[in-house]
Amino acid sequence: MSALPSRVKLIDVGPRDGLQNEKQPVPAAVKIELVHRLQAAGLKEIEVTSFVSPKWVPQMADNAEVMAGITRQPGVRYSVLTPNMKGFEVAQACQPDEIVVFGAASEAFSQKNINCSIAESIERFAPVVAAAHAAGIAVRGAMSCTVGCPYEGDIAPERVGYLAGLMKSIGVDRVDVADTIGVGTPRKVQRAIEETLRHYSLDNVSGHFHDTYGQALANTLAALQMGVWNFQTSVAGLGGCPYAKGATGNVATEDVVYMLRGMEIDTGIDLNHLVDAGQYISTHLGRMPHSRVAVALLNKRASEAATEAHAR
Ligand code: HMG
Ligand code: MG
Repeated sequence: MSALPSRVKLIDVGPRDGLQNEKQPVPAAVKIELVHRLQAAGLKEIEVTSFVSPKWVPQMADNAEVMAGITRQPGVRYSVLTPNMKGFEVAQACQPDEIVVFGAASEAFSQKNINCSIAESIERFAPVVAAAHAAGIAVRGAMSCTVGCPYEGDIAPERVGYLAGLMKSIGVDRVDVADTIGVGTPRKVQRAIEETLRHYSLDNVSGHFHDTYGQALANTLAALQMGVWNFQTSVAGLGGCPYAKGATGNVATEDVVYMLRGMEIDTGIDLNHLVDAGQYISTHLGRMPHSRVAVALLNKRASEAATEAHAR
């Protein structure tokens, strides 16, 4: 446990990874309010939206409206997904702090998600990375299917190293090791991270774990034990990927904050305000948050309120 970091940076991807997967349309005003509530809870990085084809992901078609509607807080980094130059050009006008190119360690997933091979995706990303840097915008690279793929099954760690090397070769500043379908277990995730660390330093590697099989918190701990201190998480456990059927959302931000708080690892996030943010979007979606911690704390609040009302 000696490598545990003393602080952790959480990047909430709920507004993007979360809401991209909702069947019912979520109005731009609700997305904007969610971003405001996340920053009020202390999130310093928020993945707001994606500049992808509206034919592929109609849920993100309001990207420019959402970006324009946010009242930005100093010190908060707002990121957006851009798969190609077309997406980057529209995104650039919205002044994101960071753009995210997204590739996959699996050929089949690359084809299904962005309609091209891994090699072609890198060719498409290269000018996006160069243009972003020329405009003073940071670049993150999401690496999907680093442990398993919905189409190819298990993914060998070497393929993650290969993709990380390609990301590095085109100048991507930092990368996310993503378990897109949440099939990973701690050692597998550690191997994918080990391969990534051949190309990127610890400070530039983050964990992005979907929780389909309930392993995401364990995988987060496994990454922490390697010294990883950046993670993408999703408020209320929102999300999934439209091109990874059956995959559920990222590990809930509330669950990770609770675990880290208990381990005395600083996140700068106020858990109560975060639970409020998760309740806000979950109420809008007509369900309870997909977070054990949020549900436990909401139940506790309700029982305390009932006891107080009874005492009056
Ligand atoms: P394509 O059909 O091959 O693109 O899609 P194309 O270049 O041939 O263009 C076809 C049409 O799309 C044209 O319009 C373009 O203008 C338009 P038309 O002439 O037919 O009217 N177009 C665009 N429109 C808006 N924005 C753009 C854009 N690009 C082309 N950027 C493309 C290729 C990449 C665009 C498509 O496959 C796509 O949009 N894919 C995105 C899929 C997606 O968003 N998936 C979810 C995000 S990734 C994820 O969730 C994983 C992650 O969380 C990590 C993890 O968990 O693994 C990050
Ligand atoms: Mg994801």
